[in-house]
Formats: sequence, structure tokens, C-alpha cells
Amino acid sequence: MVRVTFITDKGERVEAQGEEGQQLLELAQNAGMPLEGTCEGQMACSTCHVIVAPDWFDRLPEACDDEEDMLDLAAGVTRTSRLSCQIDLTAQLDGLEVRIPAESNDMQRE
Ligand code: FES
Repeated sequence: MVRVTFITDKGERVEAQGEEGQQLLELAQNAGMPLEGTCEGQMACSTCHVIVAPDWFDRLPEACDDEEDMLDLAAGVTRTSRLSCQIDLTAQLDGLEVRIPAESNDMQRE
């Protein structure tokens, strides 16, 4: 079991429990976070953008170039931003903390 804390754009903390191998995006959606994940993990949108707590950011496997390119287009992007569809939960990520960007509702620009 992998525990993740989501921090909503209103600052509420929402605890969720996922399984190893599960996508962070899926867990976030199950926990009621407003992440659209429009492209279902194809790295063709940025509606799954989350901001990882700095302590945790360095512990994640690095983003690939495609992910970086997509993040450049995301609203409210920060140094520790990631696409949640590219993060698979592992035992090492137990306790992970990520914030949902305030702009996540209007990121869609197609
Ligand atoms: Fe589209 Fe993650 S769901 S990039």
C-alpha cells in the first residue's frame, strides 16, 4: 500500500491509499481531485499536472524530454511540477505529497 497526500487548491489535505504500480493520476482521480487526464497518459495534454512537494521531487524518477516539453505548456508550472500520469506508485513513494495546481480546471486549450 502506498499512501499519498493530495493538497487541493484550497489547501485541504486529502489522504489516499494506492497500490504499487498504480498511476498517480488514477489515484488522484479516485480521491476526487479535479485532474482531467484528457489524453490518458499519452503525454499529449497537461491536465494531469501536479506540483510535487520539494522533499519528494528528487526521489521521483526523472521526467523524460516529452514530459518536460508538455510541462512547459502547463498553467501554473513550478520547478517541482510533474505529469501525474507519468508517475507510477512504488513502495518508495509511500508518504508522497503533491499539490493540485489552482489552474487545473482551465488548462484545457484544445
Ligand atoms: Fe495527458 Fe498526463 S494525462 S499528459
